[in-house]
Amino acid sequence: MLEKQKEFIRLVREKNINKNLKYSILTMGCQLNENDSEKIAGMLEEMGYNVIDDYKNADLIIFNTCCVRENAEERLFGKIGEIKKLKENKNIILAIGGCMMQEKNMLDKIKSSYQFVDIIFGTHTIQNLPENIYKTLEKNQKVKDVIDIDGEIYEGLPIKRNSKFKASVTIMYGCDNFCSYCIVPYVRGRERSRKPEKIIEEIVQLSKEGYKEITLLGQNVNSYKGNDKIKNFADLLNEVCKIDGIERVNFISPHPKDFTDDVIDAIKNNKKISRIIHLPLQAGNTKVLKEMNRKYTKEQYLNLASKMYDRIPGLVLSTDIIVGFPGETDEEFEDTLDVVRKINFEQIFMFIYSKRDGTVAAKRNDQVPEKIKHERFDKLKKLYESKVDENNQKYIGTVQKILIEGNSKYNNNNFEGRTSTNKVVIVSQNNKIKIGDVIQVKITENHKWYLKGEVL
Ligand code: SAH
Ligand code: SF4
Ligand code: F3S
Repeated sequence: MLEKQKEFIRLVREKNINKNLKYSILTMGCQLNENDSEKIAGMLEEMGYNVIDDYKNADLIIFNTCCVRENAEERLFGKIGEIKKLKENKNIILAIGGCMMQEKNMLDKIKSSYQFVDIIFGTHTIQNLPENIYKTLEKNQKVKDVIDIDGEIYEGLPIKRNSKFKASVTIMYGCDNFCSYCIVPYVRGRERSRKPEKIIEEIVQLSKEGYKEITLLGQNVNSYKGNDKIKNFADLLNEVCKIDGIERVNFISPHPKDFTDDVIDAIKNNKKISRIIHLPLQAGNTKVLKEMNRKYTKEQYLNLASKMYDRIPGLVLSTDIIVGFPGETDEEFEDTLDVVRKINFEQIFMFIYSKRDGTVAAKRNDQVPEKIKHERFDKLKKLYESKVDENNQKYIGTVQKILIEGNSKYNNNNFEGRTSTNKVVIVSQNNKIKIGDVIQVKITENHKWYLKGEVL
């Protein structure tokens, strides 16, 4: 972290002393966004703020925004309106950051129509938050801190993590893929990989603090670029798995086009790596995939999936699918359903195509009508749900390693944890197991969205 910002942390802490000020962060985006929020929280705590769940009672409110789909905008403006009212009666600092602030039209809109917003920051300027808060507190200044160029990587920011057992570790920032529907490359900039030794150092430290599960994060993790010793993503996986104390390693998201054999081997050879791999499909039709700029065909995707199933025993796949990409016909959508039937995904994250200004697909004049998009979404959802029971059935009678995460939200007298394939399993509580334990469980019942098991 920059010395200059450390100094601002100190100055803000001095100003805040004995004031018992509270902060609240509302994270609206993906796991990378979540990880940024953990760093923001880390800085705020060092500045003397304490977390409070209900943002309506906070003195400092941060919205960490997402713009990958349109509906996020309405939600944000609703929330800003609420804060405006609260600000009339109380001295509240409102800061808005994240991906949406990297969009010029959104930035302009906030600046012109929501002038009571105190701090606006982007995805490349999180590390300046101490200075920006200081300016607001000291000079009552409105601050706009958004830059367009790719940010540098700042190591060593303080961090306050959401969990004591599971931790996310960002390994690369940005994206170079420019899928034609996607805004992420425009708001997160070009790909930048963290130095492997910094990543390893962070995970070693996490293991010392008792963390058991690590998720490596990036928009395209398997295009990670290291150094002479840890060259690529496969090398990084192998190194991370050597770290004692870490029991489970996940990564999200890989891109099918970069799923090389050495990555498959690394998964196969390291039992710590989760047996669920997220392999974003987006669409099943080769022409649509080409127009999406995904760089693989239907056949290549199917071949990759079957190669992975063959080489990695016990593997399951999850995926992301977009329905209603511009120009997608009913027949082309059938190819998506066909892939879903063939692959038996364990989990599918389904999205209705959302037009994002500035992207190539948004300019097309053959946008699919809303009604058809929704019909396709419902059809896909139905197909997926019809397969959940069938997928669950294969777990019955098997023994699974479960990381206990807490009390079950399905049944309060039970603990809840996840298998290495990310299935929720609940078990009866007993005084031999505690949160954070990794235990062996025999799966006994299928309850559709979770399984039940007996502790062995
Ligand atoms: N880099 C990651 C995804 C980041 S965005 C990857 O490639 O897997 C998460 C998901 O949001 C994408 O996989 C895609 O399915 C979906 N998505 C992205 N842009 C979208 C858009 N314009 N409309 C609907 N869904 C979109
Ligand atoms: Fe978006 Fe494609 Fe990059 Fe994922 S790989 S962030 S979908 S452009
Ligand atoms: Fe959203 Fe930004 Fe993540 S646009 S999906 S928060 S990278």
